[in-house]
Amino acid sequence: MIIGNWKMHKTSEEAAAYMRAFLPQVKGFKVGLAVPFTALHAVQNDAVLIGAQNMSDEMSGAFTGEISCAMIKDLGAKFVLLGHSERRDVFQESNSFILRKVKRAQEEGILPILCVGEKEGQELERVLQEQLKGISGNLLIAYEPVWAIGTGKTAKPEQIEKAHRFCKGLLGKKTEILYGGSVNSENIAEIASIKEVDGMLVGGASLNPDTFAKIVHQSGRKK
Ligand code: PGA
Repeated sequence: MIIGNWKMHKTSEEAAAYMRAFLPQVKGFKVGLAVPFTALHAVQNDAVLIGAQNMSDEMSGAFTGEISCAMIKDLGAKFVLLGHSERRDVFQESNSFILRKVKRAQEEGILPILCVGEKEGQELERVLQEQLKGISGNLLIAYEPVWAIGTGKTAKPEQIEKAHRFCKGLLGKKTEILYGGSVNSENIAEIASIKEVDGMLVGGASLNPDTFAKIVHQSGRKK
């Protein structure tokens, strides 16, 4: 699976235009898009898996400004990104808070994609151990070293392999792990060929439908 993460980009009109250009180019590929809440309704389709980029840990209630799991499901979301480093850093989401969201998503029957990864200078194993504490059940992991996100730097194949193997050691061999962090059309082929990499999470390079379609083709992830 290769997933694009639009972050806080695109109105619903722009999202619909993107889909018109993108869908015909990616027939037969295993691809998903994590879009803003406000674009979910505009990207519904049968070929590309649609997801949200966050959700509340609560089911409903007096939580002004929050969006629940039932609400994103209602708009066609099949997965939800949780614990993205921007949520952890900019919005101070803690491991225990993110764990509650993962459990909520699993209870409500939507696939959580839990993002993990170390900052520059942090010890990889210690960080992953803390971020994956209490995590189990049906989910995907996205390993994204924070220093590689939006910087144009990517981890070396041996670093990626080590991190993915460590996650699988904690969660079980069958857990699928995506790699993310400055994935683009220049490095996708090498990253896709790493044995432990089950898919990719692509931020900036997923914003243009033609560029992302090219990356999807290069990833070779067919249905
Ligand atoms: P990037 O973002 O591809 O722009 O580095 C990846 C992500 O944040 O998921």
